[in-house]
Amino acid sequence: MNALNRDIKKLVNCIEKNEKERVNKDYWRLKFHLMPPVGWLNDPNGLCEFNGEYHIFYQYSPFDANGGIKFWGHYTSKDFINYKNNGAEVFADQPFDCHGAYSGSTIVHNGKMNIFYTGNVKHLGEYDYISSGRGHNTVLLVSEDGKTFTNKKLIMTNDDYPKNMTCHVRDPKVWMENNKFYMVQGARDKDDIGQVLLFESDDMINWNVINIIKSESKFGYMWECPDLFNVDGKNMLLISPQGIDAEDIKYNNIYQSGYYIIDGDYKTNNYKLRDFEELDRGFDFYAPQTFEDSKGRRILIGWMGLPDIEDLYSNPTTDYGWQHALTIPRELKIKNNKLIQNPVEEINMLRKDKKYIEINSNINEDAYDTFDMIVNLEKCDKLESTIKNCVNLSYDREKQLFTLSFTQGGYGRTNRSVSLDKLNNFRVLCDTSSLEIFINNGEEVFTTRFYPTKDNVGIRFSGENLKGSICIYEMEAYKIEN
Ligand code: FRU
Repeated sequence: MNALNRDIKKLVNCIEKNEKERVNKDYWRLKFHLMPPVGWLNDPNGLCEFNGEYHIFYQYSPFDANGGIKFWGHYTSKDFINYKNNGAEVFADQPFDCHGAYSGSTIVHNGKMNIFYTGNVKHLGEYDYISSGRGHNTVLLVSEDGKTFTNKKLIMTNDDYPKNMTCHVRDPKVWMENNKFYMVQGARDKDDIGQVLLFESDDMINWNVINIIKSESKFGYMWECPDLFNVDGKNMLLISPQGIDAEDIKYNNIYQSGYYIIDGDYKTNNYKLRDFEELDRGFDFYAPQTFEDSKGRRILIGWMGLPDIEDLYSNPTTDYGWQHALTIPRELKIKNNKLIQNPVEEINMLRKDKKYIEINSNINEDAYDTFDMIVNLEKCDKLESTIKNCVNLSYDREKQLFTLSFTQGGYGRTNRSVSLDKLNNFRVLCDTSSLEIFINNGEEVFTTRFYPTKDNVGIRFSGENLKGSICIYEMEAYKIEN
């Protein structure tokens, strides 16, 4: 441990202690989502299972709810319900990461956690910070016990990346296959084309670029947070591209998050990316990461937020000194060549009281403050469903459109849609200030923050040729040990 590391840790502890009361006064503090103890959170990082525990790290700026220097915060859990908050654990305390310990991943190998991340360096001077002035270093941090995180080693600098890259090469995601290690990093080349660099290594220390994966025609200027994995026999590439223009109801957020199915061999040039599909249709979803757990599940966690949205919409939680959260963990599967996302089954353990309602006329009911609602539809030509007087979910079978729109409490959020042949069912996970809506068994997902008033717990349903049932469970909070 160096002195800087020791003293940053002290400072973080101090601000967490001093700000705790103010943060906890916020009604919109979430009940069953992971949040920064104070300050700002962005991407999930280093997701893994190690010695029987899930490790969930995240980009953490404790000093400012609007962002600042990035460290890694850390939660651990055995069951995605009971958590331990370990606070900040990976700091920006070396010359090669002095402007932030940026995003990365963990690979468990030989009984150790091997954490790869981007050490961000911003040089002082007249730079554009795209082709000059910025260092994006690949750093390896080995933790023997999942508790101490000080053994850092600089593995690659910008000089080790292909010559036509800008300074923007980051977010290493590492895995092992046939006794070799592989890493993908997101990149922006000098022609402003977003792409993924694929590296190979025998020892996790020496890495060579073996391929560059890109779309046939340009799709954005930068691809952030890549992830490459196999699920149900399909190779998938997840990316968070920047610089995509909206096309009707597609790509409406400032930056996107989605996936390609890869056909062929991505380790050679003999591969083809299918069409890019958005992972989530809501207002607040970005930079997801996946990992495989010991049960063989491919689990995804996303950032329930987006960068650079200040002029578009906001989160009033900043008044209480915090901002953003992680999505609940989602299990991934492939169905009809489409990625399906559903909450991990552990989430059901939070269910307590329940209400069951048949849909055969208009419904106007009280729900709960936080709930899990399952709507099964036998018939549905038209549906209007309002949650807590703020968010309207509507479906029109003729137009084949499912829409989420705000009537109030959106803080600048408006509407988002997806085209849908038929609405068979949907599930709404409603926390104090977030909604995650899983449609047709996880074929489509909408994630959004929303800010209802405290006394507002009503749900309303109406429609045409509408028949089905609603089951609403009250949700308990996560138990978090500090
Ligand atoms: C994505 C991202 C990453 C970067 C991190 C910095 O949201 O920009 O590319 O590593 O956030 O916090």
